[in-house]
Amino acid sequence: MPTKAKNPHLPLGDHKTAPWYGKDILSIKQFSRADLEYIIRVAHEMRIMVERIGTFDLLKGKILANLFYEPSTRTSSSFMAAMERLGGAVIPINEVKYSSVAKGESLPDTVRTLGCYADVIVLRHPDVGAAALAAKYAGKPVINAGDGVGEHPTQALLDAFTIREELGRLDNLTLTMLGDLKYGRTVHSLARLLTQFVGIKLNYVSPDILHMPKDVMEEVSQKGLPQNEYATLDKVLPETDVLYVTRVQKERFDDHAVYEKVKSAFVITPEVMKGAKKEMIVMHPLPRVTEISMEFDEDSRAAYFRQMEYGLYVRMALLAMVLGKA
Ligand code: NCD
Repeated sequence: MPTKAKNPHLPLGDHKTAPWYGKDILSIKQFSRADLEYIIRVAHEMRIMVERIGTFDLLKGKILANLFYEPSTRTSSSFMAAMERLGGAVIPINEVKYSSVAKGESLPDTVRTLGCYADVIVLRHPDVGAAALAAKYAGKPVINAGDGVGEHPTQALLDAFTIREELGRLDNLTLTMLGDLKYGRTVHSLARLLTQFVGIKLNYVSPDILHMPKDVMEEVSQKGLPQNEYATLDKVLPETDVLYVTRVQKERFDDHAVYEKVKSAFVITPEVMKGAKKEMIVMHPLPRVTEISMEFDEDSRAAYFRQMEYGLYVRMALLAMVLGKA
């Protein structure tokens, strides 16, 4: 059996010595540029395999526990689909209120339990650092599917894959992140990921109270990336290659009146998009509420539905990696 190093163009196979075998995926900070390129390559292979044969047995006999303490449609179902397309099985716990969590069981005990039955655990939880805590006790690899306002590393990876598949590159891009940059965990992970690339310029457009957190901005500036904050989109839209729109995260607001004030601060419409390049993309991790009008969906620059599909391939790649098959 050739090793990964000797045969870099054949990422699928049995590689128990592969660097991600048995590892947790907790933060985007774990990934070097070479890692990101490797994931993109494996995800691309997964895309081809799914398009050709749909389902195959790379992870036959493996079990994923999908543990979600917060609502999810895409992340939870794409991880399930990813595992099943690779021939594995899933223990879905989407409604923790029907599990022993409702009896007061702690996160460490819950993941210890699932670690007895599953080979890998995907966790979404409202607390920052929950995935790291779970990883200490699970005995099996834990994949962070969103820890409160912290990070969402697998979303950032699928965002990077989307940009590469759609625009053909991850260097030399101007990205404009729009909306709730304070509570939106996907932009925290994506901004960090982009520090691995060159020629990246970041624009942040948000209401005053929803700025990108200072710690993320500091990490980005330490890596030397230019970044600027704006209150309106018009100035930066014409130079934007990727417009990354986010939902105002209603569930993170203590005061509903404050949410009401900012919830519709920005709305992307066909009219607004007249000010953008012809060759650029609009992304959104979804769900969208009102921040992108449905009239824009037919525009070829609207990449957000394709983005969800790319998520399947990236999650297939990640499961194969941590289970030693990529
Ligand atoms: C995002 C999340 O959960 O952070 N959704 C997702 O995973 N696709 C974004 C959001 O909820 O707004």
